[in-house]
Amino acid sequence: MSIKIHEVKDNKRDYMGLLFLADEQEDMIDKYLDKGTMYVLEDDGIKGECVVTDEGDGVLEIKNIATVPEAHGKGYGRQLIDFISREYRGSFSTLQVGTGDSPLTIPFYEKCGFVRHHVIKDFFLENYDHPIFEEGVQLIDMIYLRKDLQVSLETERLILRRWNEDDAEDLFRYASDPDVGPIAGWHVHKNIEESLDVIKNVFNGKEAYAVCLKEDGKAIGAIELKLNGHTDMTERDDECELGYWLGKPFWGQGIMPEAAMEILRHAFEDLGMNKVWVGYYEGNTKSKRVQEKCGFKYQWRTENVDVPLMNEKRTGYVSLMTKEDWIKTDYED
Ligand SMILES: CC(C)(COP(=O)(O)OP(=O)(O)OC[C@H]1O[C@@H](n2cnc3c(N)ncnc32)[C@H](O)[C@@H]1OP(=O)(O)O)[C@@H](O)C(=O)NCCC(=O)NCCS
Repeated sequence: MSIKIHEVKDNKRDYMGLLFLADEQEDMIDKYLDKGTMYVLEDDGIKGECVVTDEGDGVLEIKNIATVPEAHGKGYGRQLIDFISREYRGSFSTLQVGTGDSPLTIPFYEKCGFVRHHVIKDFFLENYDHPIFEEGVQLIDMIYLRKDLQVSLETERLILRRWNEDDAEDLFRYASDPDVGPIAGWHVHKNIEESLDVIKNVFNGKEAYAVCLKEDGKAIGAIELKLNGHTDMTERDDECELGYWLGKPFWGQGIMPEAAMEILRHAFEDLGMNKVWVGYYEGNTKSKRVQEKCGFKYQWRTENVDVPLMNEKRTGYVSLMTKEDWIKTDYED
């Protein structure tokens, strides 16, 4: 059976045994259990749980995380943290956790990418009705650690970061060019308001990035991994579809292959993907070339595929990169 992480909405108290591993006092658990969102990890039985709450200002807090003692050190804790990080990347900027200054927990969070942020003095003395010891150390202060959820990816010349509303003008500049959108399957933008709407409602996918030059940080194109549920190329969580476009003034400089290679690395190394699919419509030789340069392998051609945003049909070409191919790929200049 493969590992599954799913939300638990009802009967959260069925998991009290696990919750107590991370928090010894029931009335403390009661403070966050109902308002919190709870996930459990299953791998041939329940192996772990995690409860998160919205703390405002873009901060999501892990209130409780525990894996079953027999399965410690098997990567389940990290998988829960990675899942939460991916799931909430679009809606929160920071993941926070508070813990005692314990050798059992701080190294785990640091391994998972958290750094110490602030301390609440005497928290355990003031909020718990009995002294708490871990590995012979009495917990006194609450140590808060934080992890940035707004991942940006970096290449030699580029930053790939999340879109924000301030990018509307730059987006409009390039997306209003009739040579950019239609060949990729979308209409030219008619005004800045339309570009702003696209930023808010289209470029809001979990793995949607603005392609920016390092020198000024301005958006010059878009790149996205469309995850299961947002692509018709796969129905698997370990597969996704790559999509991209670049503003015309930047064509011919190897920028999109550079961005695509980094997002492929991210897909295979950070997101655990096993396949990345990509397509182009007949006549789009520049896009075809990007795919070849990155090492995608041509799979099939389909006539009369719907181009939904343009309300027309075209011939589509589909290529694939598997994780094994990616490991073997040498970037061809
Ligand atoms: C803390 C806890 C959730 C970690 O879960 P886990 O499934 O053992 O963690 P993982 O196996 O995913 O470990 C991830 C990394 O952290 C490291 N790590 C975990 N616990 C560690 C420890 N006590 N000391 C040093 N490193 C530790 C692992 O070695 C691993 O590193 P690696 O990827 O380089 O091999 C688990 O130990 C637990 O349930 N503890 C009891 C409840 C608890 O204390 N919850 C936290 C309350 S604040």
